[in-house]
Amino acid sequence: MKLTVNPGNPLRGDIRLPGDKSISHRAALFSALAHGESVIENFLVAGVTKAMLHALTEVGVEWSLTGPTLKVKGKGLNGLLPPANTIHCGNSGTTLRLLAGALSAANISCTLSGSNALCQRPMLRIVEPLQRVGAVITATSTGTAPMKLKRRLTNQPLSGKTHILPIASAQVKTCLLLAGLNANEVIVVDEPALSRDHTEKMLSTMGIHLVESFINERHQVQMSPLAGNNLSPLRITIPGDFSSASFLIVAALITPGSEITIRKVGLNPTRTGLLSILTLMGAHIDISNEHFSGMEPVGDLRIRHSKLHGIEVSGSLVVKMIDEFPVFAIAAAFAEGETLVTQAEELRYKESDRISTICTQLKRIGVVVEERCDGFLIRGDNNPTGGEVNPNGDHRLAMAFAVSGLGSRNQITIHDAGIFNESYPRFVEDLIDLGADIAYE
Ligand code: S3P
Repeated sequence: MKLTVNPGNPLRGDIRLPGDKSISHRAALFSALAHGESVIENFLVAGVTKAMLHALTEVGVEWSLTGPTLKVKGKGLNGLLPPANTIHCGNSGTTLRLLAGALSAANISCTLSGSNALCQRPMLRIVEPLQRVGAVITATSTGTAPMKLKRRLTNQPLSGKTHILPIASAQVKTCLLLAGLNANEVIVVDEPALSRDHTEKMLSTMGIHLVESFINERHQVQMSPLAGNNLSPLRITIPGDFSSASFLIVAALITPGSEITIRKVGLNPTRTGLLSILTLMGAHIDISNEHFSGMEPVGDLRIRHSKLHGIEVSGSLVVKMIDEFPVFAIAAAFAEGETLVTQAEELRYKESDRISTICTQLKRIGVVVEERCDGFLIRGDNNPTGGEVNPNGDHRLAMAFAVSGLGSRNQITIHDAGIFNESYPRFVEDLIDLGADIAYE
């Protein structure tokens, strides 16, 4: 699909977004591990979550979708079946990494694979700690998927361990906690900064006792032995996806005359680093109607066109906005002065090398940018001129550059843009409903 975005039209209106991607993945998988039927409202139906549902079918779990309502018949950790085929996780790193942990605990043999892009992403960060607790799992010689998991013949539980993570990653943390559901000792996951904590919240909702502690920025979570035997089913409504909202937030901020309201968005503080940084850059964003949906904080956001100025981002803020850098770079391109991102090397291991893709594609629309090994510097003194970009198979890059076209000096064309269906299938419709001038073919 090719998208052509014309600048000029202000965005106006009120919108509610599909469910959060991270929470949807967890809700589907954790429900499968519970005993009994779970009912999940506002589930995200998109490319990446379909990969998770497909994987659940492969291991014998029944589920049904009616609109955005997902019902899952939990089989319990010991009820999952070895799949007849390789489990294809598509482009979904979350599906692959979370399944590796859960299926290690379930002790079944399988092969986990995915798209070419997914098979280039680093997997030793989960394979090595899983091996240390006794899982028989291997990656390719380059440390990537396909990964092979072999049933342990003795059917012994895995062992517990203290895992000290070199980088804060919710996928790695969740993978290890899921493996720990079948460990015969306490398992501890220690991360340099608190990554998104949807797993901790959801496992607690399902009856698991977790102990969390903080030492300065470090975060530690402990789980008791054999905690996975008694997971209760879920009944939750998933908040709107903050990461999808971030595209609309930046769209309204950079498009003169805009004022939009996004209702019932997830506002978990481990996710909303972008809100804090945009506010420091001068954004007019009001939060109202704050409440909880289960254990997850939710609220409404009102965003008005604003004059932004450049800023520096580094340290523990990086993990709190880890998926938002593509659209943050667009905000920076429209801000006055310099924006510097450092200590964000992890961006190189996402759906694309996001440092490189952000920089090469920003240059194509006339933005002055310098690539750094662990980030980038953007000089935002003039709005982008316009031009043609290629998101390099990365859904968030496709959406970020579509947003840039709303405020640029000339139209922006995004080639191979259909990849946004991976996480936010209504993206173009929602922008058009809010007033954007977008053509697609
Ligand atoms: C996710 C964690 C993050 C994020 C990804 C979803 C999750 O990945 O980038 O989109 O649901 O746990 P990392 O844990 O690799 O940083």
